[in-house]
Amino acid sequence: MKSIVVLVSGNGSNLQAIIDACETSIDNGKVTAVFSNKATAYALERAKTAGAAAKFVDPDAFDTRDAFDNELMRQMDEYEPDLVILAGYMRILSGAFVRHFMGRMINIHPSLLPKYPGLNTYQRAIHAGDEEHGTSVHFVTEQLDGGPVILQAKVPIFEEDNVDILTKRVQTQEHKIYPLVAKWFVDGRLEMKAGKAFLDGEQLGLTGYAQD
Ligand code: GAR
Repeated sequence: MKSIVVLVSGNGSNLQAIIDACETSIDNGKVTAVFSNKATAYALERAKTAGAAAKFVDPDAFDTRDAFDNELMRQMDEYEPDLVILAGYMRILSGAFVRHFMGRMINIHPSLLPKYPGLNTYQRAIHAGDEEHGTSVHFVTEQLDGGPVILQAKVPIFEEDNVDILTKRVQTQEHKIYPLVAKWFVDGRLEMKAGKAFLDGEQLGLTGYAQD
């Protein structure tokens, strides 16, 4: 059984989608531990309910980002993660942390990368008058939201949309694609080599897997 460790900061709806998938489609994976940098994150309740270790590591207890990340890394390593999943984890990662988990750490970001890395992607897409928005699952590298894309999902933006409506539409897609990518990884079908993502040995394009 592959060990999946999930990092969260908030609600944890993507964590829940991964937990649920481990009961159904991800036959060979289990969420062993969930770490949060926020004590009140609802995701920690979801972890407890699922029988995973639920851990809060307090950033305020450390003087530097490196010190916090080193301690987080140490605690995560106790669960020997085969896969690290960032699910709404809203902290910049140190270089050493990224390098430690490189090739086995994925993130979901609410935009059609490389468009809109960083924060407030929904506002930015609406204000720009975009007709579509979406979400991307990618391997994590040292470049913020810049690692190779594995899979994206697109949704339309309608004229009457606001951030809340668009967020719901995008998150509905996130809950489908993130468990699918996790399954690919756990099944040994997905890997990162030389900064590129490969599925079944085929290099993925700039926007990830695209079905013909
Ligand atoms: C998700 O929509 C995810 O795309 C976003 O945070 C949300 C967390 O929701 N991640 C980022 O913005 C990372 N840059 P959740 O806690 O309900 O899964």
